[in-house]
Amino acid sequence: MTERVVLAYSGGLDTSVAIPYLAEKMNAEVIAVAVDVGQGGEDLNVIRQRALDCGAIESEVVDARNEFAADYCMPALRANALYMDRYPLVSALSRPLIVKHLVAAAKKHGGTIVSHGCTGKGNDQVRFEVGIGALAPDLKVIAPARDFAWTRDNAIAYCEERSLPIDVTHKSPYSLDANLWGKAIETGFLEDLWNAPIEDIYTYTADPTAPREPDELVITFEAGIPVAIDGEKVTPFQAIDLMNRRAGAQGVGRLDMVEDRLVGIKSREVYEAPGAIALIIAHQELENVTTERDLARFKRGVDQRWGELVYDGLWFSPLKRALEAFIEESQRHVSGEIRLAMHGGRAVVNGRRSEASLYDFSLATYDQGDQFDQSNAKGFIELFGLPSRQAARRDAELA
Ligand code: ARG
Repeated sequence: MTERVVLAYSGGLDTSVAIPYLAEKMNAEVIAVAVDVGQGGEDLNVIRQRALDCGAIESEVVDARNEFAADYCMPALRANALYMDRYPLVSALSRPLIVKHLVAAAKKHGGTIVSHGCTGKGNDQVRFEVGIGALAPDLKVIAPARDFAWTRDNAIAYCEERSLPIDVTHKSPYSLDANLWGKAIETGFLEDLWNAPIEDIYTYTADPTAPREPDELVITFEAGIPVAIDGEKVTPFQAIDLMNRRAGAQGVGRLDMVEDRLVGIKSREVYEAPGAIALIIAHQELENVTTERDLARFKRGVDQRWGELVYDGLWFSPLKRALEAFIEESQRHVSGEIRLAMHGGRAVVNGRRSEASLYDFSLATYDQGDQFDQSNAKGFIELFGLPSRQAARRDAELA
């Protein structure tokens, strides 16, 4: 019986060439699945047709934008997820969602093999394969670019040989991955760490140094989720989309970093994630106002671990699920409003209010109305510092 391969299809050169190649090499029928996670660019119907023109027996396009926003970006926001304190996990978030739809397509069409276009050097191969394993441990995986050591020239030659309907001249000199949460730009001249990014590579953000009027808005959160902007109700998708535009227009959310990949390589990465960065800044500040001190301190460690698990492709892991139960509880009172000023590439909180606020003016004030009994502080410090004094005395004795 001919096997069926479900291919994660982007419409680009590599995954297009993979269609006839897999069909031949594996003697299989290929089912192409393209998932819309807000990457923009080409019309997905054009992409669907291209897969058929390349020889796929079925071609599906899944509009997963709302699902991506609600079930993948929102958990990342609640976890203030920034890998290495900077990268908001753009690509790492979309892979498990794509995996989910690939597995669903495999079930629907009787696929036994799943295929993706990743090379052997990146994180995305791990995310695909560990994710597939977690959802459908019996599916086999094949990655033609990696497993058959394909080069770009190979792919172009193959493409021309078979006269596949792909424009090979338009390929970007960079490796790009984009979705609603942001965009990753790699390779090309950026591989020299000393080379500064050029303005051309950015599409989500305007030049932060260009002169322009600042922008300001108010984000309303309920339990850690943005539900309104300037008083207008928004869905998670709308919140991110709108923040991408407003923060992006101010040049917010550009990153240029050297990153530790799971496979051990250090790589140069340029990102732009205006909505993600602006929302995380706002969300973090609302947590500062509403989250009890020890819960907040502990959550920072949970947040970091959550981000590392997701970066490492462990979206469907038990630990990540358990951490999310903690995060869910932590967000109970993260409700209120944040006023955010955006300008010159920065997003800065300049106002916050919440019914769940733990900020107490009468405790904090240095003016009239102070209710904080300062005479308690002396005794508190006496006991709080007791272990330090004891240790210091011991150290002096034994020195
Ligand atoms: N280094 C980032 C990550 O691992 C971005 C990956 C971008 N993917 C790509 N196929 N260009 O999350």
